[in-house]
Amino acid sequence: MKTLVIVSHPGFEQSAVTRTIKQVAESLPDTEVRHLEERYGDDAARFDVTAEQAAHDAVERIVIVFPIHWFNLTPMLKAYMNRVWTYGWAFGPGGTALRGKRMQVVVSAGAAEATYSHQGLIRSTMDEVLTPLKASALYIGMRWEPPLAFYGVMNADAARLAGIGQAFAQRMADCLEPA
Ligand SMILES: Cc1cc2nc3c(=O)[nH]c(=O)nc-3n(C[C@H](O)[C@H](O)[C@H](O)COP(=O)(O)O)c2cc1C
Repeated sequence: MKTLVIVSHPGFEQSAVTRTIKQVAESLPDTEVRHLEERYGDDAARFDVTAEQAAHDAVERIVIVFPIHWFNLTPMLKAYMNRVWTYGWAFGPGGTALRGKRMQVVVSAGAAEATYSHQGLIRSTMDEVLTPLKASALYIGMRWEPPLAFYGVMNADAARLAGIGQAFAQRMADCLEPA
């Protein structure tokens, strides 16, 4: 399945998990990887909207990879949605560009999996933390795939990183939402 992987990390030099996932993504067939901060730094005004929209048009699945920072999207990812998923293209009159495409979110979190539950410290699941992405995807007619989340990733050693890379590759090979 033709896939666009959008990677965002505000401090990629320090990244271990997102870096591992990006490397695996770059090795997969039929997959284009676009790393927002690598292309545009932290300046959303530099987005090449035409090129970014064309990258979406070319695929059936969009994968968004980022670390959870303060239970939120990264700043560049939010800015990207604002500027690239435009009225008349992604929604509104004639805005059907992303309809029917699959949306797969891949995130890493420092906190333990138990934290992300109604009984846990934040009284919220990861699916709930990801509500803005989920709601946005569904609003524009995308197919929401179950998110792939890696928990407790602080100081992940080589074996853990290898496992994360394998789990990511496996999810890319599967589609959980039936056709
Ligand atoms: C500024 C900042 C905020 C963070 N906020 C959260 C958070 O809200 N929840 C959480 O589980 N982890 C949080 N973390 C931990 C990151 O999710 C974790 O470092 C990241 O997923 C690891 O991926 P990386 O190696 O690609 O950076 C935060 C880390 C930083 C630097």
